[in-house]
Amino acid sequence: MLKLKGSITISGDKSISHRALIFASLSVGKVTISNLLESDDVLRTLNILKRLGIKIVKKKQKWIVYGNGTCGYIQPSHALDCGNSGTTSRLMIGAVSSNPINCTFIGDNSLSKRPMSRLTVFLERMGAEIKLTKKDFLPAYIKGGSHLIPMEHIMEKASAQVKSALILSALNLHGKTSIIEKKNTRDHTERLMDYLNIKYNKTSLKDKSTLIEIDGPCEIKPKNIKIASDPSSAAFFIVGALILPGSKIVLKNIALNKTRIAFISVLKKMGGNIKIKKTNTVSGEEVGEIKVSYSPLKGIKINASLSALLIDEYPILSIAASQASGLTIMNGLSELRHKESDRINSIIKNLSNLGFKVKSKHDNIIVQGSKKLKIDKQKKIKTYSDHRIAMSFTILGLLHKDKLIIDNSSCISISYPDFEKHLKKLSRIN
Ligand code: S3P
Repeated sequence: MLKLKGSITISGDKSISHRALIFASLSVGKVTISNLLESDDVLRTLNILKRLGIKIVKKKQKWIVYGNGTCGYIQPSHALDCGNSGTTSRLMIGAVSSNPINCTFIGDNSLSKRPMSRLTVFLERMGAEIKLTKKDFLPAYIKGGSHLIPMEHIMEKASAQVKSALILSALNLHGKTSIIEKKNTRDHTERLMDYLNIKYNKTSLKDKSTLIEIDGPCEIKPKNIKIASDPSSAAFFIVGALILPGSKIVLKNIALNKTRIAFISVLKKMGGNIKIKKTNTVSGEEVGEIKVSYSPLKGIKINASLSALLIDEYPILSIAASQASGLTIMNGLSELRHKESDRINSIIKNLSNLGFKVKSKHDNIIVQGSKKLKIDKQKKIKTYSDHRIAMSFTILGLLHKDKLIIDNSSCISISYPDFEKHLKKLSRIN
């Protein structure tokens, strides 16, 4: 029987890698970035920055970015291709919006179906000229400028990408931008701003919403950035160790930002034996070691209020749920419809095709766990080219030797090119 054993260092965090490159490009001078995640998505951001006139070179495993300041992007000669990356498209649309240039943003089939108007409504109100395909999608044309009028934005929908895009836009505007977040989202952008000594205010309001204020324009002094390891990538091995009998693993250097590791509390509530030890702080992010041992899991109800903090982990949590005793109910998942695939559909279709009892109504997912389910003939997993679906079902496949055939494993390089290598390193058969 296969189990996971040993210790590895997971690759750099995807969200922080995008932000490190963008903030470095907006700094005045040279920034060295270490442990940058070299995944397809992050390389999209890197190449777009190059097209906007930023010099970026790799030297001895580190990336050196020569920033041009907050108004330093130059007119690109080609369309800016975001590939599959939602974070690249939203953050870069925000960043260019306050520069006096015209840009066209394009993406692959999946990204061209993901909504952009949730961001561009705010930018248009400030005076940016934007044309979206069918009023919501890429290809998008944007004419920005530093003359945009800074104002107050009220974000009803929880999205770290939209919040970060508005912050990036504000850095080059003359005057005060206020962003009110009704629901808290991941805060890597704010943490990196703290680390880089960029001035802004963040306060909690009476109704539990959060106010972020930035008085622009801001000058960003260059400071080297180290990227912590990605907790969302670690989640695949954490669940792998929980469901494969005899497993015991240690994952090092993981970002322990509480807006990212809510899935660990969920897995602990399901009965998971997971221990976290903080070790140090890396460029504004607390990091540490996570120890996980095989544990019998039980089904639980996961409240909708947690959904913004679990947004990338629902696919692998569904795999944990499939191996738990009883029902797991995950509520408030409407945003999953707008990810790299419609993840409610991707999870339900694949689990039910394997024989699990799953259903969805009103944008929730209900999984009846079944540890005993035997898969005795080969079954195809439809990834819809969604990296997190591919990795989640690869982990489930470890319980069913060679029976789950992933239709497109190559999409894993979108967020975790070393996934297979790391999995091999942890895998033991006896
Ligand atoms: C991300 C935010 C999340 C997440 C995505 C990365 C980010 O999107 O799903 O993988 O880096 O800000 P939303 O907060 O827009 O849902």
